[in-house]
Amino acid sequence: MKLLLTGGAGYIGSHTAVELLNKGYEIVIADNYSNSDPKVLDRIRKITNKDFAHYNCDVANYSEFERVFKEHKIDVVIHFAGYKAVGESVKIPLEYYENNLNATITLLKLMNKYGVENCIFSSSAAVYDSTKNRRLTEDSPLSCTNTYGYTKLMSEQIFKDAARANPKLSIALLRYFNPIGSHESGLIGDNPNGIPNNLLPYITRVAVGKLDKLYIFGNDYDTRDGTGVRDYIHVVDLALGHIAAIDYCLNNKGAIAINLGTGKGYSVLEVVHAFEKASGVKIPYEFTGRREGDTAEYYASPELAKKLLGWEARLDLEQMCASAWKWQKMNPNGYEE
Ligand code: UFG
Repeated sequence: MKLLLTGGAGYIGSHTAVELLNKGYEIVIADNYSNSDPKVLDRIRKITNKDFAHYNCDVANYSEFERVFKEHKIDVVIHFAGYKAVGESVKIPLEYYENNLNATITLLKLMNKYGVENCIFSSSAAVYDSTKNRRLTEDSPLSCTNTYGYTKLMSEQIFKDAARANPKLSIALLRYFNPIGSHESGLIGDNPNGIPNNLLPYITRVAVGKLDKLYIFGNDYDTRDGTGVRDYIHVVDLALGHIAAIDYCLNNKGAIAINLGTGKGYSVLEVVHAFEKASGVKIPYEFTGRREGDTAEYYASPELAKKLLGWEARLDLEQMCASAWKWQKMNPNGYEE
């Protein structure tokens, strides 16, 4: 069984690569390292003691990406590649639409040409309207507050239309909630460029002394302590969700959206305290105004994933925080030596 991972050097891609190699799957990574580091490949090899093919290529570029399909008979594609910064997406929307939608379209064209029938897509809880419901099921109302979310929602639609036109296709649209944490080795992890936008990477950089304090965006939400509540999921659990989706794709046709979350929400303050407990490091913080586009509280209904994939998240918030801290401590400058 050979899998192609687009964006396989990224945060979620690299963790999924490790779990796949450990389970004996053959993988090919295609990544242009626009938001990742080629050193990740060595780290994956070091963790797994296994080797794999990799291509430095832009998956939105048909002729560059076609080489991979010419040289490998792919059974399943896991499509992680894409721009992912919410704030940036609003500032440069055309680049986001161009990159993320072209990648999806190019991939589907090449899958059709080379007879590849199975694809797992990195979608996001950002496709839901989280102002209406807090517990989100796959049929909750959809609507986005930013361009990043729209690129995911539009890609989902493109996959659905492609699957309607080609009944051989089998597509799992995995809607991730908030992935955090790292592989237990501490060798791979979330490595955002510059000042992190997301909560956990910000906290770990405060803990390691690279940032002074955490700014908590709003303490007047209608939640148990006034701070925003999200469904944080360990990236290793998320990676295992992809492996469960492979079997689902091989045995079903059509396109289907499935949540990958734990079903439990934690507030920003609860995450801060869990991190302090796991690391033994105090995190100074200050409340500031709400961040545009944020909503009070949402978390996944994880039932469909359990029913269709036989998968559920197992690792808890403390394990998420402890592993994120291990990665940051062992790699204070990310993948730079
Ligand atoms: N937060 C802070 N301070 C920070 C960063 C975040 O208080 O410096 C708060 C936010 O207001 C929010 C919570 O921490 O309440 C989580 O924020 P993140 O930025 O970590 O995550 P989001 O829930 O905003 O978004 C994440 C991903 C998106 C994805 C979405 C889907 O960044 O890509 O989850 O659920 F679409």
